[in-house]
Amino acid sequence: MTETCAPKNILVTGGCGFIGSNFVHYVVNNHPETHVTVLDALTYAGNPANIAGLPADRVEFVHGDICDADLLDRLVPGHDAIVHYAAESHNDNSIANPEPFLRTNVEGTYRLLEAARKYDVRYHHISTDEVYGDLALDDPNRFTEQTPYHPSSPYSSTKAASDLLVRAWHRTYGVRATISNCSNNYGPYQHVEKFIPRQITNILTGIRPKLYGDGLNVRDWIHTDDHSSAVWTILTKGRIGETYLIGADGERNNITVLRDILEVMGQPADAFDWVKDRPGHDRRYAIDSTKLRTELGWAPEHTDFRKGLERTIAWYTEHRDWWEPTKATTEARYQQQGQ
Ligand code: NAD
Ligand code: DAU
Repeated sequence: MTETCAPKNILVTGGCGFIGSNFVHYVVNNHPETHVTVLDALTYAGNPANIAGLPADRVEFVHGDICDADLLDRLVPGHDAIVHYAAESHNDNSIANPEPFLRTNVEGTYRLLEAARKYDVRYHHISTDEVYGDLALDDPNRFTEQTPYHPSSPYSSTKAASDLLVRAWHRTYGVRATISNCSNNYGPYQHVEKFIPRQITNILTGIRPKLYGDGLNVRDWIHTDDHSSAVWTILTKGRIGETYLIGADGERNNITVLRDILEVMGQPADAFDWVKDRPGHDRRYAIDSTKLRTELGWAPEHTDFRKGLERTIAWYTEHRDWWEPTKATTEARYQQQGQ
């Protein structure tokens, strides 16, 4: 399938978070014809430094909330597409306090869909593989676009709810929407509360890494740059009303990832602590991205996980000023939870 005309003006929500900011960099570096407006509320997970230094004629930053309908009325007209990344994204936080997840993930998506409907703007929805629940370690199947929704956590249930709103707004009101469900991302600018950055920055600050449960839970890792290229492919070539799963065949259990980190960082293989498991902890995620690859011709470029991990470790080592201000608060919260 060929690329439709590249959008001239896109509104990227959550563009100061981990994956959203990587997408903004990707667009600036690869699609000179496209201007980006970033809408971000700068919660604890948003950092304007993630997009600082990008050319002012390519990227405009608007500080605001996706639940603010008046702001959306002013902002959405004039854009060709909305790419919706903004969310409360961390499972452990959703277990401690689900309320912000309901507000941002469900109400926020509703507000954006209403704006997309009112101003007839193309809408792409960023979602997660977690909406499908989990798989047993020995299940030969992976998630496909046909897998029934079966979310487990407050976070994933609000993401599932938001996906269903998108489907309804497309079918009922004809909103020109697509959805993508991606697996676990890694790379630069990821908050230190998440698994890989937490372990790297623990080692860099003399704290022992922490592994939940038995360490055998499996995640399907993809470099965030590959997520960005997949989203661009769907935005420009995807069929309206369709869902595409994004994954890079990166299944690994947590203890294997941690052992890689310890080895690259010159630590003994047993230099970590076992900690309390996450309640309701999903066992395994695995994505079959055949539809995206065969229908739209996308393929991941960063298929060497170990190399991607080494570059990510180097990035955190060289950017202490980026993560140090949030490290102590994050670890204090984990300590309170026994993790
Ligand atoms: P993140 O937590 O790093 O960033 C979220 C961003 O959204 C932050 O900049 C935050 O300030 C902003 N935000 C939160 N509430 C807002 C609101 N009400 N209004 C405006 N902005 C708000 O998240 P992430 O890991 O980059 O995830 C981005 C998206 O990708 C989410 O929708 C998530 O569900 C999805 N996703 C994440 C992964 C992953 O591995 N991290 C995998 C698949 C899908
Ligand atoms: O699958 C996509 C999802 O990936 C996204 O939708 C979420 O936004 C994103 O946060 C991520 O969710 P996970 O819960 O899989 O990611 P997290 O980094 O929190 O944890 C990864 C695995 O590592 C999980 O099995 C829990 C475990 N873990 C996590 C932390 C923070 C540990 O063992 N120790 C830790 O310190």
